[in-house]
Amino acid sequence: MIIDPANVDPVSSYKLMIGSITPRPIAFVSTTSPEGINNLAPFSFFTGVSANPPAIGFTPVINGEGRLRDTRLNIEATGEFVVNVVSEHFAKQMNATAVDVAPEVDEFELSGLTPASCEVVAPPRVAEAYVSMECKLIQVVEISNKILGGSFVIGEIVRFHVDDRVFDDYRIDADLLATVGRMGGNTYSRTADRFDLPRPTLDDVKPAST
Ligand SMILES: Cc1cc2nc3c(=O)[nH]c(=O)nc-3n(C[C@H](O)[C@H](O)[C@H](O)COP(=O)(O)O)c2cc1C
Repeated sequence: MIIDPANVDPVSSYKLMIGSITPRPIAFVSTTSPEGINNLAPFSFFTGVSANPPAIGFTPVINGEGRLRDTRLNIEATGEFVVNVVSEHFAKQMNATAVDVAPEVDEFELSGLTPASCEVVAPPRVAEAYVSMECKLIQVVEISNKILGGSFVIGEIVRFHVDDRVFDDYRIDADLLATVGRMGGNTYSRTADRFDLPRPTLDDVKPAST
């Protein structure tokens, strides 16, 4: 089957993407509004984009009513945010922050997650997260201003907060971190089932000559 996205509605394209681009890591983003209200929301259109400087990108989309995400509005207003890494032990509270609420609602209070202060940026990090990254906005790249259209928010990581229990000489203990990934629909994946593939040399991969 070959599908031209121009011939299907945006929700169908969205379904194809979230069902196929899997598992997706989740940026659990904390921001603070100019009025001082904290906001917390998950974003699975998310990736690292540079290591020097360390930088990440994620995509708040425009919702079905044509509204921008509070997260994007807060970041554009303040230039600051925190990306918290989602582990299984607080996945349910993370999901609770995705309910559609007014900007005046503090999702830390709504979810019961604990705000902890940052070193450089004003928004709090999530104390339950083993890894959090304080970020300063580099750029917002607007892809489209249509419903379900996204904007790619790129931020430079200015502080890493890493729980000592998961840190061993800059290696992260994947078993303890126990990140969850987003699949299609309401499905999540665990990261417990893993395998290693050592990087081969050319001799390892070229076909044996006959
Ligand atoms: C696991 C998960 C991943 C999500 N990923 C995205 C995403 O990549 N982009 C997006 O705009 N919304 C995403 N959402 C929906 C938002 O988190 C949700 O609409 C939230 O209420 C937005 O909050 P805000 O308006 O306070 O920024 C996701 C929801 C969940 C539960």
